Amino acid sequence: MIERGNKDWQLMSRPEIDFVDGTPRSAQFDDDYYSPTDGLAESEYVFLEGADVRGQMASLAPGQTLVITELGVGTALNLLLLMEAWQDVGPAEAHCHYIGIEKYPLTLTQLKTLNSPFNRLSKNLNTLLERWPSPLPGCHRRKNVVKGFMADFWFEDVKEALIDLQSHHQRWVDIWFLDGFTPVRNEAMWSGQVLDCVARLSTPGAVIATFTAAGWVRKRIEESGFTVTKRAGFGKKRECIHAHFLSDISTITTQFPSSELTQWDQPQYWVAPEHCLVIGGGMAGCHIARNMAEMGCRVTLLEQNQIASGGSVQPQGVIYTRPSHKHSKLSDFSLSAYAYSVDHHYQKFASTALEVGVDGELNGYIQLSDPQTHERLGSTFDDPDSPLRLISASEASRISGVKLERPGIHFPQSGWLNPQGICRELLEHDNIRVIEGVGPITLEQHDSLLWIACNAEGKTLAVGDTSVVTTAWAANQDKRLSWLPLQPIRGQTTMLDSKGALAHLNCTVCHEGYTPPARLGSHCVGATYGLNDVETDERDEDHQTNVNQLIHNIPSLAESVTAESLRGAAAIRCATSDYLPIVGSVPNEAEFNATFAGLRHNRKRIINAKQPNYSGLWLMTGLGSRGLTSAPILAEVLVSQMFRRAPPLPRYLLQAISPARFLKRRLIKGN
Ligand SMILES: Cc1cc2nc3c(=O)[nH]c(=O)nc-3n(C[C@H](O)[C@H](O)[C@H](O)COP(=O)(O)OP(=O)(O)OC[C@H]3O[C@@H](n4cnc5c(N)ncnc54)[C@H](O)[C@@H]3O)c2cc1C
Ligand SMILES: C[S@@+](CC[C@H](N)C(=O)[O-])C[C@H]1O[C@@H](n2cnc3c(N)ncnc32)[C@H](O)[C@@H]1O
Repeated sequence: MIERGNKDWQLMSRPEIDFVDGTPRSAQFDDDYYSPTDGLAESEYVFLEGADVRGQMASLAPGQTLVITELGVGTALNLLLLMEAWQDVGPAEAHCHYIGIEKYPLTLTQLKTLNSPFNRLSKNLNTLLERWPSPLPGCHRRKNVVKGFMADFWFEDVKEALIDLQSHHQRWVDIWFLDGFTPVRNEAMWSGQVLDCVARLSTPGAVIATFTAAGWVRKRIEESGFTVTKRAGFGKKRECIHAHFLSDISTITTQFPSSELTQWDQPQYWVAPEHCLVIGGGMAGCHIARNMAEMGCRVTLLEQNQIASGGSVQPQGVIYTRPSHKHSKLSDFSLSAYAYSVDHHYQKFASTALEVGVDGELNGYIQLSDPQTHERLGSTFDDPDSPLRLISASEASRISGVKLERPGIHFPQSGWLNPQGICRELLEHDNIRVIEGVGPITLEQHDSLLWIACNAEGKTLAVGDTSVVTTAWAANQDKRLSWLPLQPIRGQTTMLDSKGALAHLNCTVCHEGYTPPARLGSHCVGATYGLNDVETDERDEDHQTNVNQLIHNIPSLAESVTAESLRGAAAIRCATSDYLPIVGSVPNEAEFNATFAGLRHNRKRIINAKQPNYSGLWLMTGLGSRGLTSAPILAEVLVSQMFRRAPPLPRYLLQAISPARFLKRRLIKGN
């Protein structure tokens, strides 16, 4: 499993690639990325034909998903061919999910140089160049790389990534491309442990395609439960193999190791969602509603007031993150969520679903910093495709358009968003019905099968088989969630007219607060922090705090602020004690405590049980001050759990955000 503890943060190493007679060759592994004869034809023959990819894609029924996992993304040639095949034959109502694992991801320049000779693939190459992840370790999800085709890039060692995926004890993969370097020089890609994971993750009837026919690889594949067939090899290679996994689930003998991990975060009871109630219409509720709707589920979203009228009410917020020189669950989650949010919103603006300048703008942000922080981060994020850059005060001034007196950290892909615009766009989907202005909703369960949303008078407003609580700091008012430690934090923003030096601001500047470029002639400057204060009255002293903070950090803007123009609004954030959000199934407190009581005496004890949960009840809250960053990936996490799909984050991060972590911690502390 992937575990990073508090090791030093490192970006992924890049491969050293030479060209030998025009074919890319790894200096490290002393092997070609693909055949010198004709790489494209080899990939078509060995992988796409070898696994009958087009046939399998074409025969998908509406709503079905074909999962293809590649060990060794390499130059992404196979991926480009898969995208092309999907465009040719993928049925409109079906989906393809590519999971690519790679320890040495190419730089953007390498990706471009290596694939430019394949004219036929140039359009998809441009798409991939736009969506290619930064070299952050972990999983990078990219939805709709082409319509209906989703790619997860796991930038990890193959064994670590597969063991992580396998820890969910679910069979996801229909087709495997085993494309490490030649087995004698890249044994890690062909080890018995890797091939056992391949078998454990395979659906009945899954297929393996690979270029090699090495005897010991063949034997290991057979030992892990596949039937191997030889085919003629490509180019100078005499043979290659493809293999089929057993098609009858009852005969599959590869077992998931039960003793590796206590499954306290995995729900014991599960229903396939068909009609989902979402309670609460802020960023969290709107994101989850849209993702459920896109999975073909009917959604009824119920909001006590108006959409985006709670914590998501401020006119401008920033997509921020927290880089660190040491790994921690918080910094790892924060960078993964950031990278996903940036890609998600880039797509929305590019497709014009969101309007630039009104719904937001991805014109970057600068976090004002200091020499000590720069020294600590040092070369951690040095890479041509890094998501951030350390910059001097003069460079920060040049980029931002206003005079800045401190060095900064520049995040060029980020920007500001208008949460109300984001929520509006998310709810524009035929499968979503919105009920607003109905006062506080309570949820009742009927016969363990149905969830009923009632208003304060007890009147039924909607019924579903599944429900998601997204009521922010009010979530622990639900009787099943009274144990949830949530902290409300009041925040007030101040609107400043765009004039003087402020009108020249080109990107958001963050310090303890934030100042974005103008939206419709005003800048929304934020924000105050009022712990445990749940009043939303507008306060003069809070405006003064915002203005003082701004002038203190950016003195050059002092003259742009005039007292008579101060106006704004306050709202309530919902924070958690560990600053991580809360997403997942809802455990039954009493049954959880009984099932995992053994952890009281030994926190490392493996207990062979899943989380006793309320069937069909899910939670997404605790987004704190980072909802614009975290909501998109959290909705992906939740939908993957609700539909039992492969996750978009490693398991240690899923556990770090699981609601049940608080009950587990309480048990371990002996409370
Ligand atoms: C001043 C301020 C500035 C911020 N700036 C940023 C920023 O720059 N970047 C960033 O990423 N984040 C920022 N945030 C945080 C971000 O806005 C939040 O993380 C995010 O909006 C939370 O979304 P949510 O859906 O979880 O909560 P909310 O938006 O609060 O939504 C919860 C909804 O549930 C409804 N509700 C509650 N109880 C019930 C019930 N019983 N029945 C029905 N409905 C119910 C509420 O009315 C509310 O609409 C800021 C927050 C504030 C307050
Ligand atoms: C033959 S290349 C893959 C070619 C690729 N499929 C393509 O379409 O270009 C093998 C890949 O395996 C990767 N690799 C080698 N060892 C690995 C490991 N232990 N974990 C993950 N990836 C590894 C290499 O970096 C390389 O990109």
